[in-house]
Amino acid sequence: MLITGASRGLGRELAQLYAADGWRVIACVRGQASFDGNIEMQSLDVSDTASIAALGRTIEGVAVDVLINNAGIRGDTGGLATLDGDDFVEVMRINALAPLLLARTLRANLLSGAHRIIANISSRAGSLAEGTLDDDDGDYAYRCSKAALNMATVKLAQDFHMDGITVLSLHPGWVKTDMGGDEANVAVATSAAGLKTIIDGADMADSGSFRSYDGRRISW
Ligand SMILES: NC(=O)c1ccc[n+]([C@@H]2O[C@H](COP(=O)([O-])OP(=O)(O)OC[C@H]3O[C@@H](n4cnc5c(N)ncnc54)[C@H](OP(=O)(O)O)[C@@H]3O)[C@@H](O)[C@H]2O)c1
Repeated sequence: MLITGASRGLGRELAQLYAADGWRVIACVRGQASFDGNIEMQSLDVSDTASIAALGRTIEGVAVDVLINNAGIRGDTGGLATLDGDDFVEVMRINALAPLLLARTLRANLLSGAHRIIANISSRAGSLAEGTLDDDDGDYAYRCSKAALNMATVKLAQDFHMDGITVLSLHPGWVKTDMGGDEANVAVATSAAGLKTIIDGADMADSGSFRSYDGRRISW
């Protein structure tokens, strides 16, 4: 499996969980990182199209069973009053555009793989139906980026149907990471284990769906 944003948080946990389960893991990081277990590291800044293209060249011909688009940033959280155009575009670039570019770049790798799954780590905060029900944080850029990522999931599921590639949007819960903060109510190990269970059990019938780490279906 290949995962982005693996230096810390959920990405690091997922990389180590898959490695512990015997998978070959390619962990993509933009800086330095260290892992427990047998994990290959690749350099990748998902905000840089040249970096994505370079990754594609480096792993050309390598089968990728599962691609997990995990790298993400939250951006400005202040709401409309502090909305900044450059910040907004950067969040969109990392959270919504990069997963699309990676899906396109690694399509041949996925076709060589046995599982053929793309898991986009989204967020319930980007759900039009549920995202603001119990959460009034500002997060304009983050919410818009995850809503865009959800549409990317649905559109990729349509385009990749003929290839037998399953595409999922997954909500990891409110997770105790640098992004989630100390108040979060889900341990990173719990979230990663739940996400892995969903990913490992997914098939084409699940393609284009939005699920939480605990298995619940989330409304778009
Ligand atoms: N934590 C939550 O409560 C929560 C809730 C819903 C969804 N999510 C989603 O879950 C995913 C993981 O979040 P997390 O909580 O683990 O966040 P985190 O602890 O802040 O970690 C974010 C990861 O993304 C990487 N990253 C950021 N920008 C990057 C770039 N341009 N290129 C490559 N890597 C980049 C970071 O690398 P560096 O170390 O180099 O910065 C880091 O490894 C994100 O997509 C997030 O939106 C999280």
